[in-house]
Amino acid sequence: MIRACIFDLDGVIVDTAHYHFLAWKRLANELGYNLTLEENERLKGVSRMQSLEIILELAGISLNDSHKEILADKKNGWFVDYVERMLPEEIYPGVKQLIGILKSRGIKVGLASSSKNAQTVIRLLQIQHEFDAIVDGSMISHTKPHPEIFLKTAAKLGVAPSDCLVFEDAEAGVEAARAAGMKCVGIGSPVLLRKADKVFSKTSDFNLATLHELQTISN
Ligand code: BG6
Ligand code: MG
Repeated sequence: MIRACIFDLDGVIVDTAHYHFLAWKRLANELGYNLTLEENERLKGVSRMQSLEIILELAGISLNDSHKEILADKKNGWFVDYVERMLPEEIYPGVKQLIGILKSRGIKVGLASSSKNAQTVIRLLQIQHEFDAIVDGSMISHTKPHPEIFLKTAAKLGVAPSDCLVFEDAEAGVEAARAAGMKCVGIGSPVLLRKADKVFSKTSDFNLATLHELQTISN
């Protein structure tokens, strides 16, 4: 039975994944590296420092820890600048309605985001009260694809992992959901997210018919 739906934030509820990309691309440019959209897929779902490590590896640059902290802070400053100008209307169409439908069916709704800015983003979107449990990047020790964030959210919701369905736009996130023993709906490319049970191009394409269909699939 699916008793809880756990949503990733960036790229699933709102297009902040794009703001992360813009800020990382700007940082990469300063380092003399041109970060592509394809390479950016590897940065999705993982922590800020892990993302920076990937960029440095791509660029073939090695830096000490304090220099890395400075660059990660710089990127975050730009990201926060983009996000602070965001309006509640930027939430993807249909997502609030979907959450409402799920809740009306007695399904619990959780948020599991690797971002340390997650609370700010959901406050700006005015959806902080929609979730029965929230776990963000400041509450975990292991980044996706480790299952920790989803297991923690399920525990907060009081729902067994096998009764949870995750919505994810990141390859690392889909892997984390699978590793947690949860079902997973991918949002984005069916090729990149092939480990998901179902893939849609947008979150609001998911409906109750898909929920019923997924109830019958074993994890
Ligand atoms: C994830 C994003 O949600 O949060 C990643 O998919 C991002 O791209 C990560 O790096 C960490 O975010 P923040 O806001 O803590 O830098
Ligand atoms: Mg995401």
